[in-house]
This record gives sequence, C-alpha cells and structure tokens, in this order.
Amino acid sequence: MPNLVPPHGSDVLKSLMLSGDALAAERARAKTLRAVRVSSREKGDLIMLGIGGFTPLDGFMTHADWQGVCDGYRTAAGLFWPIPITLSVDAVTAGSIAAGGEIALVDAEGGDFLATMTVTEKYAIDKAHECRSVFRTEDAAHPGVKMVMQQPEVNRAGPVKVLSDGGFKASYGALFMTPAETRAEFERLGWSRVAAFQTRNPMHRSHEYLAKVAIEVCDGVLVHSLLGNLKPGDIPADVRTRAIAALVDGYFCPGTVIQAGYPLDMRYAGPREALLHAVFRQNYGCSHQIVGRDHAGVGSYYGPFDAHHIFDTIPKDALQTQPLKMNVTFWCYACGGMASNRTCPHSEKDQLQVSGTQLRTWLSKRETVPTEFSRPEVLEILREYYDSLPA
Ligand code: ADX
Repeated sequence: MPNLVPPHGSDVLKSLMLSGDALAAERARAKTLRAVRVSSREKGDLIMLGIGGFTPLDGFMTHADWQGVCDGYRTAAGLFWPIPITLSVDAVTAGSIAAGGEIALVDAEGGDFLATMTVTEKYAIDKAHECRSVFRTEDAAHPGVKMVMQQPEVNRAGPVKVLSDGGFKASYGALFMTPAETRAEFERLGWSRVAAFQTRNPMHRSHEYLAKVAIEVCDGVLVHSLLGNLKPGDIPADVRTRAIAALVDGYFCPGTVIQAGYPLDMRYAGPREALLHAVFRQNYGCSHQIVGRDHAGVGSYYGPFDAHHIFDTIPKDALQTQPLKMNVTFWCYACGGMASNRTCPHSEKDQLQVSGTQLRTWLSKRETVPTEFSRPEVLEILREYYDSLPA
C-alpha cells in the first residue's frame, strides 16, 4: 500500500472550499456583505486555502502569526510556516469594516465572489520588516518587495470560506489538480516516494535532467508549474505547460511523471519560498522537493545555494517533505552528456550554461538554440509563442 506523507501539521487535508447547498447559500449571503477586492497574490493564496494546499491554515494570518512567521518561521500556534499569508485592505474600505464583521472577498479582475471572511483583527505591519525577513532585501526593484510595498497598509485577519477556484479549472482543465487529486493519483500509481519539481519555466535540458535524477531515486515526479502571475517577460503558463507536455511525451517513460499546476503568484523569495514550496508540496503528497540552483530566486539577491542551506537551519521536525538538493547542471561537451558541478571535472569552456535572458534573446531574434540546451519539440512551441508577440 502506498504510504504518502501526511498533510502539513494535520492528519487530514483542510480544504476550505464549500460545495453543494452550503456553497449556494454562502454565495447568496456573500452578495449581501461588504465587498473587498483582493490582489492577484491574495487571490492565489485564497484558492490554495480553498483546495487544501495551505493545510492547516484556516484563513488570513493575525498580527501574532505575521510576527512569528517573519521572525521565527512559526505561527502563534507554533505551526512551522515560512512566508506570511496576509490580506491587506485599503484605508477607505478598512474604515467601514468592524472587527467581528463579515466581508466578501472579490476578484479585482473578474469581479467573481471568491470567499467570505469573518474579520477577527485589524492590524498595521512594518512592511520593511516583512521584506527584510522574507526577501532579505528592501530594494524596491525586487518584484516581491515591490508587491509588499505597494499593498495597502492595514491587514485584516480571519477565517475564510472559499466559494470559487478563481477560474483556474476552466483555464487549465485537468492540469489544475487539488492536493486530494494528486494524492489519489499517486496512490493509483502505487507511488509513495514522490519528488516535486517546482517550475515557472518551460523545461530545458537542465530541468529535464533534474527531474530524471529524481526519478532514479523516487517512484515518480510531480512537475508542478506555477499558474499565477509572474514578472513581465516570463513565459505565460499555457505556453509553458504545453512545452512541458511535449517534453514529457517525448523524453520520459510513461508512468513516471505527472504534470500539474498550482494557483499561486510567484513571490521570488528564494530560500523562504523554497521552504513554502516544500510545505505545500507535502500537502500535495510529495515526500521530496527538488531544489536546484537559485531556486525561486530573481536577479542576484540570493546565493545560488541559499535555498539549499535554509533547509539545514530549520528544526528536524518542521517538515516531512525533504529537499533533494541538486548542484548546477548543464551539458558538457567533454563528458558528452548532462552533468553537474558535482559530477563533471571539466572546465567552463566545455560546459553549455545558458541563462534565461540568453534563451529569450535567441528566440526573439530567431537564432538557432543548441539542442544540447533544449529539446526541439519544446523550442517549436516557444518559437510559435515568440512569433506571436508584437515586434
Ligand atoms: S523557479 O523560480 O521556479 O525555481 P525555474 O523554473 O527556473 O525557477 O527552476 C526550476 C527548478 O530547477 C528550481 O529548483 C531551480 O533551482 C532548478 N534549476 C533551474 N536551472 C538549473 C540549473 N541549470 N542547474 C540546477 N538547477 C536548476
């Protein structure tokens, strides 16, 4: 019998999404409540709460949770949690919401009723403190810092009842799997050691190699793409997931990979986000999380292996999902294959190390991309996307 890791801090998945009659009744009630628009990041967090990805949280964090998470990776109740999950409300709206009152949370873009929330606390935060703790910088050029600094000053805490999947199922169909669904699929396949491969990119050959190394030591890999918002210039989710499907179909053994997506926005918090990835992958049933070079990083804010080291600083019992730490991987012409800094003795001149910026330049100028860097089936999908962009 497969024996999957238990959900984080709980024996059961805590899905806050209502269904059936309860959903219909709460939707009707939501329309009578004060409507508050949520940001894209908050929407992603809400959907994760809804589908059980953020088990065992029951809503947006209190001030004591926020402080504990920023300073010591723990909520007020002592739960290990690496990044604050908070809701901010602008001053005008906030003034009309009393603690103890109820509000409806509405998608700022689509106007969809996403959730109802009982407000238990209003509090202001020191945003610079959050940025220093979570992103290790206050630099406004960091996209995660920018997101926090632009959010309204006052947070609202409280439990939520989730009313919608935010349209993710309609947009992504079977790719949008809930933790209960990935767990059921792993069990059907007889997997218990499952590695999650986090990605926000179409997979190039270094990514493919990381996933295949994981398959050597696990029962299978969950290729888990971020479906929420990214920074400008990153490749949209529908293009990425099609490119990944082409790679999986052509280059992996059947029954070793499941591709799915999750609804969060990228925070670019590097090491802290790697911990968050491990927390929610535990909820999806993954025993391992692949952590490679500069995982969830941006620019040069983090060292290439900061996201490895952070796992050595947390208590042993914080998480059951363990990191599969991987060094820098590349094609080596002298080795005649994929290799890493741990397995290849040759010099950099023998190694093909391609940056995302270089790849985008090649694609936008329609130049040849070496097959040692990316599979042709993946490139074809990326070229089609670049051709569709305005010049
Ligand atoms: S991420 O922001 O989602 O981490 P990306 O999709 O580029 O970005 O990376 C997915 C995973 O592959 C991460 O674990 C990252 O550390 C790893 N990775 C990407 N490129 C390499 C590489 N050349 N060598 C080793 N690990 C890599």
